[in-house]
Amino acid sequence: MSEIAFLLNGTPVRVADEAPTRTLLDWLRETRGLTGTKEGCNEGDCGACTVMVTDAEGSRALNACILFLPQLHGKAVRTVEGLAGPDGSLHPVQQALVDHHGSQCGFCTPGIAVSLAAAHLQGRTDHDDVLAGNLCRCTGYAPILRAAEAAVDAPIPDWMKADRKALSAFIFTEISRGSGGSAPGPVRPTSSDELAEWYAANPDATLIAGATDVGLWVTKQLRELAPVAFLNGVADLQHIERRGELIGIGAGVTVEQLRLAMVDTHPDFAELLRRYASVQIRNAATIGGNIANGSPIGDGPPALIALGATLYLRHGDDMRSLPLEEFFLDYGRQDRKPGEFVAAVTIPAEAPALRCYKLSKRFDQDISAVCGCFNVTVRNGKVAAARIAFGGMAGVPKRAAAVEAALTGGAWSEEAVRAALPAFAEDFTPMSDMRASAGYRLEAAQNMALRYFHDLAGTPVDVLEVQP
Ligand SMILES: Cc1cc2nc3c(=O)[nH]c(=O)nc-3n(C[C@H](O)[C@H](O)[C@H](O)COP(=O)(O)OP(=O)(O)OC[C@H]3O[C@@H](n4cnc5c(N)ncnc54)[C@H](O)[C@@H]3O)c2cc1C
Ligand code: FES
Ligand code: FES
Repeated sequence: MSEIAFLLNGTPVRVADEAPTRTLLDWLRETRGLTGTKEGCNEGDCGACTVMVTDAEGSRALNACILFLPQLHGKAVRTVEGLAGPDGSLHPVQQALVDHHGSQCGFCTPGIAVSLAAAHLQGRTDHDDVLAGNLCRCTGYAPILRAAEAAVDAPIPDWMKADRKALSAFIFTEISRGSGGSAPGPVRPTSSDELAEWYAANPDATLIAGATDVGLWVTKQLRELAPVAFLNGVADLQHIERRGELIGIGAGVTVEQLRLAMVDTHPDFAELLRRYASVQIRNAATIGGNIANGSPIGDGPPALIALGATLYLRHGDDMRSLPLEEFFLDYGRQDRKPGEFVAAVTIPAEAPALRCYKLSKRFDQDISAVCGCFNVTVRNGKVAAARIAFGGMAGVPKRAAAVEAALTGGAWSEEAVRAALPAFAEDFTPMSDMRASAGYRLEAAQNMALRYFHDLAGTPVDVLEVQP
């Protein structure tokens, strides 16, 4: 691999002659002796491998087990070994974990300490969300949460602020020196023009964005991927921009960035994304990857389709657009030509009737059994337009066209919604798997339609709150 350079616990490192799909976790443990970063699941689920990565955008927790070395070029990595100060004094979250007995067997503790330290640096106090991707099997979360709470007001240690300051000098002196390395390297385009030209010429290549899917192809399926291109340096695909009535979202926008951008405009979409995996996964996963992988159980597409999203695909100099739902042709098959990539998606800036319901076995860090998104426009008591889309109900994310037709033009009432429920069986023939049976999925989808009616009517429908 051509050489990459990054800061590791404050010290510049250069890496060459490693496979482009070498994970940070393996490299830390096998070549640097930094074994504090643990391997639990090796698939992004448990958080034992959490590290903190800093770049110009800020600092964030990521899972080292599905983070490839080239994704770190020009960034700063802090492992659990770098949390204590140069004089050995513990980071406030480490001290609080000691004081509040937040560790028993200790296997999860390094990852938990890094997640809490990253959140402490960001001033976050939503400890439940911060720790949703850090599994602890023996201590129990109460002491860990007490520790997180106890550290909130402690000042941020100077060494934790150092990475950001050191990065600009590092990029100037080290990165601008260029890179050596003997092996032909992975491609790291820095603009969508560069990506478009290269991918059109190398249509068999694998694009790697956040690697929250591709990482598992390597760690679990032991696949050899070559050639590869890393998209995380393509700056012009990483913007969210409002233009008039539309919001444009670049394919490289992470799920966490999208969640934050949706809080005011589409709060239900933001809430759905809060339940998308964990902080570490949301910090890596991109919306482009979530669309391009064509998964029938991805959480982004149903909400985007219900919003009426338009997808932009680019091949060389050509850009084309289509309604997002038309992109998903069949299970594992999308309307994407070789050498064509997802560039962006646009959504309307206003959709006050959008509601999203995710049904999964666990509240956090779980894939949807059924994800239903509803966007019905009611005028003068009648349904003027309906966009209803589901994940987990077919081989692709799919609109409930028959249900929409049954509702459109009629009165908006509970009776009308009940009368439309049989149409779900026309739209969907769901499958049975370990997440849910076909019958359960169908009934759950129908119940979501009723829930939506009551939700719009202002009746509390939060399933986590007990209503008097
Ligand atoms: C622990 C865990 C939990 C998860 N939980 C959820 C969840 O709750 N909800 C959910 O929806 N998903 C979940 N996922 C799945 C995953 O996070 C998403 O599918 C993710 O959005 C993929 O994005 P990425 O940037 O990581 O894609 P990558 O892994 O980098 O790529 C995925 C695929 O898309 C292609 N690709 C990426 N970007 C582009 C582009 N711009 N143009 C064309 N092709 C492209 C890649 O070549 C690859 O085929 C989870 C994954 C893990 C590991
Ligand atoms: S080892 Fe479990 S998330 Fe990385
Ligand atoms: S302390 Fe044992 S798993 Fe958390």
